[in-house]
Amino acid sequence: MTNHKKIAYRGSIFYFRDSANFANLPRADKTAGKEHYVYHEDGILIVEAGKVKDVGSYADMKKKIDHIKIVDYTGKLITPGFIDTHQHAAQSAIVAAYGEKLLGWLDQYVFPSESTYRDPHIAKKELNFFLDQLLMNGTTTAVSYGPLFYEATDIFFEELNRRKMRFITGNIMMDRNSPDTLCLSTQENYDIAKKLIKKWHNKGRLSFCLSPRFAISCSDKLLELCGSLKKEHPDLYIQTHLDENVNEIKEVKKLFPWSKNYLDVYDHFGLNDKRSVFGHCIHMTDPELEMLKKSHAVISWCPISNNFLGSGLFNIENVTKYTTNITLGSDWGGGNTLSMFAVMDEAYKVSMLQNYKLASMVRWFFATLGAARALQIDDKVGNFEIGKEADFIVVDPAATLYMRYRREKVTDIFELLFILMTLGCDPNIHATYIYGEPAYIKKEKQAVTVKVAHHKEKMTHK
Ligand code: GUN
Ligand code: ZN
Repeated sequence: MTNHKKIAYRGSIFYFRDSANFANLPRADKTAGKEHYVYHEDGILIVEAGKVKDVGSYADMKKKIDHIKIVDYTGKLITPGFIDTHQHAAQSAIVAAYGEKLLGWLDQYVFPSESTYRDPHIAKKELNFFLDQLLMNGTTTAVSYGPLFYEATDIFFEELNRRKMRFITGNIMMDRNSPDTLCLSTQENYDIAKKLIKKWHNKGRLSFCLSPRFAISCSDKLLELCGSLKKEHPDLYIQTHLDENVNEIKEVKKLFPWSKNYLDVYDHFGLNDKRSVFGHCIHMTDPELEMLKKSHAVISWCPISNNFLGSGLFNIENVTKYTTNITLGSDWGGGNTLSMFAVMDEAYKVSMLQNYKLASMVRWFFATLGAARALQIDDKVGNFEIGKEADFIVVDPAATLYMRYRREKVTDIFELLFILMTLGCDPNIHATYIYGEPAYIKKEKQAVTVKVAHHKEKMTHK
């Protein structure tokens, strides 16, 4: 049940204003002015019936909160929840899988693991574990690949609905080049999507996302059917993988010899749209970037996974000459963390490798209001303008001993964001609120006992 009583949250508050956008955010650090963001060192956020009712500095709001319950998060940062635009909900079991690049990694690890979701009991347990992890990492909205099977994806929607999360997902679709345990017929893939669209699309805070895995695992017919579903329901989202790995690109050329390039395959079937989210986009050619510029499709940059799978470096400096619809993805599965702090950190490091300094504000924007805008949900989430849905996180910048030490040396919001992105991870998420309700509150430190088998080694003394 949504709490209809007003509650005031006190703490430091940071968010981007509606007027902020990538084009006007300065590229150099520490140069973004107050016209782009709001920062109250001592602030108040008032929430009522799941929405932002008011926000301001404590000094200005003092009189307004006389008779309101106050939750005191002094010393912590209250800020909009993160938006992760690329992740695989059914890949928790294969995170940290050794020694393969994309195509080998899919065959050896991903496909066998995803096939276990045929069992709804396994699916329910794994997907709830995944969602708990997500909330623990401060992510409140995501574009996410669900499992292949109807029951499993239906359970996923059910759990998301129960948790009231604003979420964009659908059954991952594939009808070729995959093992029998995973391969559904073209018609089965289509029927599952159709049924789920009817049941879940635009229900509560949920949106359906057509999710053809990538061109290699989808026949022409399946891509054509996806295109027809998109025509039937123009407000559906689409997600797929694009230009992630050089061998993948060669294979696509073999399978679709008529195509001008990889993106042309999706474009041909009506899947390159302003509601399309393309994961990775590392090896994009100029004509592909031109096509993206025209369609206003969204890029999900997944730096952690790109490094883990040795896929390549996303060149933000070049891509932004064509499009600014750039967002960030954990690519959980290929990525080894759901922490958007860690994803923002990796984006910085990948850019530094290419001699490009990515400003703190720009990265934080990609993971919050920028993603909301790219997904066209910025009228609902992404910042604390009055009336927006109250999805927010409480960040503890001093969650570890070293961070407490480092925090004391921070003098402004730019540095605070920078240390959070560079050093932060799930311990820094103190609480996650969904639609004004606490969905995760960090437990006080628990002692963890690890059982280790002790082998008494025989010592030989000479
Ligand atoms: N390309 C096709 N499927 C996948 C997947 O599951 N993960 C990643 N990173 N790339 C893909
Ligand atoms: Zn992926």
